[in-house]
Amino acid sequence: MTILIHLSDLHFGHAFVPQIGELILKEIADIQPEIVVISGDFTMRARHSEYAQARAFLDRITIPVLTIPGNHDQPLFAPIERLTRPMGRYAKYIHNAIDTTRATSGWFVAGLNDNRPILPGGFWSRDQCAWLARECANAPCGATRVLATHHQLDWAGKWRPAGMWYPARAREFLARCGVELVLNGHTHIPGAIQTREGIVIARAGTATSNRTRYGQSNSYNLITRDEKQISVFVRRYDERAHAFIAERAFTFARNDKFVNRNS
Ligand SMILES: [Fe+2]
Ligand SMILES: [Fe+2]
Repeated sequence: MTILIHLSDLHFGHAFVPQIGELILKEIADIQPEIVVISGDFTMRARHSEYAQARAFLDRITIPVLTIPGNHDQPLFAPIERLTRPMGRYAKYIHNAIDTTRATSGWFVAGLNDNRPILPGGFWSRDQCAWLARECANAPCGATRVLATHHQLDWAGKWRPAGMWYPARAREFLARCGVELVLNGHTHIPGAIQTREGIVIARAGTATSNRTRYGQSNSYNLITRDEKQISVFVRRYDERAHAFIAERAFTFARNDKFVNRNS
């Protein structure tokens, strides 16, 4: 069994809750997953001070990490910079490559930036699709192919991202690339489904910010994979225990076409 920890929407700045941040770091150190994926919204307003705090947090994780930016990671109060270099601060503080991949034992994760400076997010350009197809074609044997984007691929009737007018087409494209697991953030509401193509889409809540929604607590997802199944465990923050506890588990049988292709 191999483990991936998926965090999202840390929102360093006034919304960040430091005590919960410390707990998350302890969870990662205790669990020792193969990889940590952080799917955007590191900051509230992309201020330098917020990014510096996010960098210090990342520096304390000793396990391989893959990051992608979120819509909040583009500077809000510097409009010219937002238009001309929307991911400049992200590149300076978090990771110099914006669309990036990381392979570890059992996982091959591609992170794709689906934010746009003016329009709502959820767009993948043609170049990005070509990049993803290329990267997946060269993924190591035996690694489960994972795509991380900030905006949600599955919206359950709400919060439809602007770029996702043709979700079936996107899912079919991902299945052709061999992508078996999609990781999203943005809504601050955790959940997981399996599409008819056999792709597991897992959404993480906000791990460390007070911007929780609809009665949800802070949470993160612990994802495991073996030869037969992918499981998504939502671990939520319990205020009374001041600890993350198991809340919900989603288990999905792996589609043979992915098992055969990715092994
Ligand atoms: Fe967010
Ligand atoms: Fe967001």
